Formats: sequence, C-alpha cells, structure tokens
Amino acid sequence: MNSKPIGFFDSGVGGISVLKTARAIMPFENFIYYGDDLNAPYGEKTEEQIQRLTLAAGDFLYKKGVKAIVMACNTATSAAVIMMRERYSIPVISMEPAVKPALFAKGQILVLATPATVTQARYLGLIERLCAQDRVVSVGCSGLVECIENGRMGEADVHACLGQCIPAIGSGHIGAVVIGCTHYSLVEPHIKSYVDHAFDTDCVVFDGRHGTARRLEQVLFEQGLQTEGPAPGSEAFFSSCGDKSIQNFEAVFHHFEP
Ligand code: DGL
Repeated sequence: MNSKPIGFFDSGVGGISVLKTARAIMPFENFIYYGDDLNAPYGEKTEEQIQRLTLAAGDFLYKKGVKAIVMACNTATSAAVIMMRERYSIPVISMEPAVKPALFAKGQILVLATPATVTQARYLGLIERLCAQDRVVSVGCSGLVECIENGRMGEADVHACLGQCIPAIGSGHIGAVVIGCTHYSLVEPHIKSYVDHAFDTDCVVFDGRHGTARRLEQVLFEQGLQTEGPAPGSEAFFSSCGDKSIQNFEAVFHHFEP
C-alpha cells in the first residue's frame, strides 16, 4: 500500500481528460497534474524537441516524489516513452490511439491525432502490426490543439478547424473515429457531430484514455502500489504557464464528464 501521488502530464489541458477518467475508477488515489502549456502544441514540434520537453515534464513529476507517471499525451508517448521508461525506476503508463478496438467497427476508421503522432514510427508501426493500412485514414489535425488551448471549445470553432484538416475521403463508409490526442477528448461530441454530418454516418468513437486509466489501475495493483485512502483522494495542479492556467485546469477537471 502506498499513498504517494501519481503524476500525470500533457503539453497542456488535454491530459485532464485522462486524469478525470482515472479519478472515476480510482477514488482513493492522490494525483498531481502538470500541464506544459507554455510549450504547447507538442504535436507541431520536431521529435527531438518533444523528447526534451517530455523528459523535463517527467523530471518535474519525479522530483515531486510520485509513485508512477502517466504520459497523458499521445504525442509525447510516440516520441519519448522508451526514454521515459529507461530514465525512471517507477512505472510509466502511456497512451496509444485505440485503433485495435476500432477494427471491430464496420467501415473505414478515421484516426485523428497531432501531425507529429501520425508521422512518428511508433504509430506507423502500430498500424502495420495490426495490418490496418487499408482500413485506416490517419489525419494530423494541425491547429486543433491550439484552438482548444485557447479555450475555443465550442462546436462552431471545432467544426471550422476540422473542416480545414479532414480531407474529402473518396470512397468507403466511415464507421469509426479514433481520438488520438487527449486534447480532442475534451471536444469529443463536436468531433462526432462533424464527422457524422460530413460523411453522412453515425460513427462509433474510440478513445484510448479509458484503456490508459485501466492499465494504471492494473499496474498499481500488480506492484502493490495502490492506496486504500483515506477517501477522497486529492488532485494538485501545476502549469509551466502559472496561476491562470492552473485555474483553467481545475475548471476543466470539474466540468469534464469521463
Ligand atoms: N494532448 C497531446 C496528445 O495527446 C497533444 C497536444 C499537443 O500537440 O501539444 O497528443
């Protein structure tokens, strides 16, 4: 049994979607969240830049004495999960776009993620391993993270941004959408409504944050690291941008429905 906190991080506000999902199944745990919004978006940076920023975020959490780190960012995972696991002696839990479960849906699968995620070897390797090349249309949604970071999370703003990123898809019915960036989870209903309207469908949405939260719970259990309370567990928020961002993180945490 171990009541030390679990550290979560993302380039900004997106990882709060993972944090809240974990909170829903782990009421006793204490959580620390670090959003590096000074440096967002990670998804439009080079692999080396993302690796450097990710290791700095990991060090921030590690120095706070966390018992595990959750990389609540697909982009950071793609670029740096191996380095993170080599660097720390504690469990490092990461994200993966939920392409595997989406293969059970009918039709084409639209994977929406950052430009960095969809071009990095880790993601391309996943698609190859799953032999999913013919089923998947991968889209790097340039600008969508910035839109969300700037608080433009309403339907009109999200639809306008998606309209610029998602290409016309020639043939094939879109049956599923994979949310491959934790920021996008915060606007998931607007993503579904855009895709349904644009492609005349009723798509099923797959989001890796549920799998990451369950994996965290499993690892804590296997390694005897879970706490038994007292309930409720706490959350503490930190940002590379200061107090205003912290207030935003808290507000998003309270409003997001996991
Ligand atoms: N939330 C991050 C992810 O899941 C990306 C954000 C960014 O581009 O900074 O990929």
